[in-house]
Amino acid sequence: MHSGNQRGSGRSACLETRIGRLRLKNPVIAAAGEHLIDAAGIRSAILAGAGAVVGKSTNESEAAKDQLTRAEYVALGPDWRPVPWGPDAPPATLLTRSGLTPLGFDDWLAQCVAMDRFAARHDCLYVPSLILAAPEPAVRMAKAVEAAGLRVLEFNIGTPYASQAAQGAVATELSPARVGELTRMMVQAVEIPVWVKITGQSERVPELAAAAFAAGAESVVMAGRALGLLPDLDTMAPVLGTSCGIGGWWNLPLTCHWLATSRAALGPGHSLIGINGATNGADVARMLLAGASAVGLSSEVMLRGWSVLEEALATLEAYCRDKDLTVADLIGRAADARKRFADMPVLDQHWKGFIPAPLSGAMTENEDD
Ligand SMILES: Cc1cc2nc3c(=O)[nH]c(=O)nc-3n(C[C@H](O)[C@H](O)[C@H](O)COP(=O)(O)O)c2cc1C
Repeated sequence: MHSGNQRGSGRSACLETRIGRLRLKNPVIAAAGEHLIDAAGIRSAILAGAGAVVGKSTNESEAAKDQLTRAEYVALGPDWRPVPWGPDAPPATLLTRSGLTPLGFDDWLAQCVAMDRFAARHDCLYVPSLILAAPEPAVRMAKAVEAAGLRVLEFNIGTPYASQAAQGAVATELSPARVGELTRMMVQAVEIPVWVKITGQSERVPELAAAAFAAGAESVVMAGRALGLLPDLDTMAPVLGTSCGIGGWWNLPLTCHWLATSRAALGPGHSLIGINGATNGADVARMLLAGASAVGLSSEVMLRGWSVLEEALATLEAYCRDKDLTVADLIGRAADARKRFADMPVLDQHWKGFIPAPLSGAMTENEDD
């Protein structure tokens, strides 16, 4: 374990990264979730050393707030059975049905301002997050966020839940044209950088990202979780009763694929934030190599606690030291080394090493034997 004085700005400069015009002291972002509803949770993420902390999102929808009172969470082991919630859980899949902050907008904004001040003292960026319900209230709230002096805005238009939640509570935008329109609306409303969080429930993630950047987004956060349904063998009903947001460590390669394909489509000059499936510092490095300039961790921190952030930073710093590279050097290296299938060498019956031995009797050609 590293000592407390390595927290925050005490870490080495090799971890610095840039998201558009903003500098982060390191690329580890504590991403929104229930553990970042209360000020004490937000302060904990800041004290754990995160480069940025995204607070729990809000919008104007009462249905979205109400949803928090119906929210449920379960950690699942590799056999899809529940495992105890907490730091000792095995590598877990999280099945959740979440809602938005219980705070009214004025209280939420006051909390954002206080958290931004606390974050600034620790060289951390506090990121207020709005989830789209309807366009006009989103613009009004964004202007209030800017007027309150906040330094950046995350605009989530890709929650997993739109098809399952009350109508108009949250959005899952699937069309590049609409992503462009909504991003432009926000970018024209405020001068602070706008980070747009997009859905992963699409085969068009790079096109959604391209549309957001073309409309002026300073970063695109990719990508939101999928929906899943898990039948319970005892009750024969869905676990938690509904389709739910589903995520876990296994999502990492899917996110890395979206990062790499987006980087290939857009070029290296765009600040991508990787999210969905990072659980530790090695995963942060993997997402950086796939093209992210910073990486969000949410479920793993909510499940296991703030030490996930501290350990991610320590691991990432050790990795950079071992490789004698900075975070900036890592960004996109695996993405840029990615080949196409036809570029790969011809191998001699390589596939035969990957199939099971035939059953006895299966080698004969005579069906009568
Ligand atoms: C219980 C829970 C609550 C969440 N709440 C929010 C939220 O308020 N705003 C938001 O933008 N994302 C929210 N997310 C999404 C996470 O920030 C993140 O995008 C997602 O969980 C994938 O990353 P992970 O694998 O690190 O968890 C939530 C996720 C979970 C599991």
